[in-house]
Amino acid sequence: MELKEFSMRIGDDFHCHLRRGDMLGKVLPFTASMFGRAVVMPNTEPPILDRFDPHLYYKEIHQYKRNQSYSGFSPIMTIQINESTSPSMIEGASLEGVAAGKVYPIGVTTNSANGVRDFGKISEVFKRMQETGMLLLLHGEKPDTFCLHREKEFLNTLLKINKEFPELKIVLEHITTRVAVWAVKELKNVAATITAHHLLLTLDDVVGDLLSPHNFCKPIAKSPKDRLALLEVATSGNPKFFFGSDSAPHLKERKECSSGCAGIFSAPVAVPLLVEIFEKADRLDKLENFVSTFGAVFYDLPLNKDKITLVKKDWIVPESYDGIVPFLSGKKLSWQVK
Ligand code: NCD
Ligand code: ZN
Repeated sequence: MELKEFSMRIGDDFHCHLRRGDMLGKVLPFTASMFGRAVVMPNTEPPILDRFDPHLYYKEIHQYKRNQSYSGFSPIMTIQINESTSPSMIEGASLEGVAAGKVYPIGVTTNSANGVRDFGKISEVFKRMQETGMLLLLHGEKPDTFCLHREKEFLNTLLKINKEFPELKIVLEHITTRVAVWAVKELKNVAATITAHHLLLTLDDVVGDLLSPHNFCKPIAKSPKDRLALLEVATSGNPKFFFGSDSAPHLKERKECSSGCAGIFSAPVAVPLLVEIFEKADRLDKLENFVSTFGAVFYDLPLNKDKITLVKKDWIVPESYDGIVPFLSGKKLSWQVK
């Protein structure tokens, strides 16, 4: 018999770009209505760098949340770590309740020009993170290498950090390759987030036919074999792999131009799409852990209490939400949130 309704514990989004100001107001409702919590990325304008920045950003998110009446949603705050971060800044941020520090290697993605070139310069910072229990979130791409090999080439750096700081909890963010799946499985205290779009896309969906700027993100979608490895591990029930949408909104004109921005605005479709993907893989029973349990356990957070229910009903993803083109715009999805 065909399933018509699906309920599970409401999930968390372990990698989300909520931006600031107007954009924050536009995109927050999608995340706040479909998740209990979201790990909020710090590559905002201005960025979240110092111990007091997360507090201000938290207040900004809270203000929008209150105006839009999403009381059940909580942001999980992060700071960006770069070569100017000091161990005492980590201590301060940790006291402020910041859960994680995010490292962007220099220039690899949106707003990362201030990123890290020399990882040796931040080893004292990693040491202090290990001591305070702050998680390290890594954008795992090596700068200045061939774009399809950037993730693979970064794994050496991951290995070194893990070897030097074996108790430091690390999340390799938005993984896209079979080899990254392998590395994460091998390394103790290392987990990974996987996006919904990387479970669906390959490089062909970005540049294989006509150019599709709304499928363009960092790290770029890879080969069919890589996609399959992600799908296999995400639906396998391995607790080291959990959901992070990497929903990364940019205005339509910043995507559809020369020098278009990297980032896929997936928040409006992520949950229905995950249900569809897991159902197709005949692994719907594995979805709740992927979205609602494994990440919370790795972050040492209590599980959410609320439930979310989806019903099987076709809908067409809108062409735009207030000037932002969502992932799969104009396409049909078969599940929607009740
Ligand atoms: C993200 C953004 O726009 O902030 N872009 C993206 O392509 N994923 C940054 C990131 O996570 O790489
Ligand atoms: Zn991101």
